[in-house]
Amino acid sequence: MEELKRAVAKEALSFIEDDMVVGLGTGSTTAYFIEYLGKLIMEGELEDVYGLPTSYQARLLAIENGIPTLGLDEVDAIDVAVDGADEVDPNLNLIKGRGAALTMEKIVEYRAGTFLVLVDESKLVERLGQKMPVPIEVIPAAWRAIAEELEVFNADAELRTGSKKDGPVVTDNGNFILDARFHRIDDPLDLEIELNTIPGVVENGIFADIADLVLVGTKEGVKKLER
Ligand code: 5RP
Repeated sequence: MEELKRAVAKEALSFIEDDMVVGLGTGSTTAYFIEYLGKLIMEGELEDVYGLPTSYQARLLAIENGIPTLGLDEVDAIDVAVDGADEVDPNLNLIKGRGAALTMEKIVEYRAGTFLVLVDESKLVERLGQKMPVPIEVIPAAWRAIAEELEVFNADAELRTGSKKDGPVVTDNGNFILDARFHRIDDPLDLEIELNTIPGVVENGIFADIADLVLVGTKEGVKKLER
């Protein structure tokens, strides 16, 4: 599995050129991409490339690997954003947010000229929600009210708790995460929009219609899925 992640991360480098601002996603697959990108920058193979991190994890990795970073409020445009995903459907709609970084990821990836997704083949599903719940970032005081509201959507929501921290996971933005299992997701774009109308919801992990290209690591090599 790690080999497949490394292979897509390497392939993603071919989309990066001098003078680009690159959105740096979050997660284990993107971590390889950040490592490889840093190497090219440090070796002088790429010039004037800046990373725009989507999380503290991405920022720390960028610093560790010698990638100069900029904040969202410092750039005019984002050329390419590179990130992993938890599920990818046949129309390249995604579920993201296992790493709780979905809000900043969506802001950066929505604004990017090209959004490139890196996954291994285990992430491909026929329908979103098949394997993974939809993460929803919520204002802490509203978590219970929103969990109840989600019953109207036929979803069971669970407050995400930490593994090396007692109590709820607190996001980079100081919020909580609800993991919502939906009975069936027929229209990802519609659900993405609807969820964001619930007061107290900051953002949700459905990324419909924004991925331009998905690189899929398979045992036979890297496959490209395009919209
Ligand atoms: C973080 C994410 C990640 O990109 C997603 O969970 C994929 O991670 P990995 O590459 O480790 O499987 O959405 O919020």
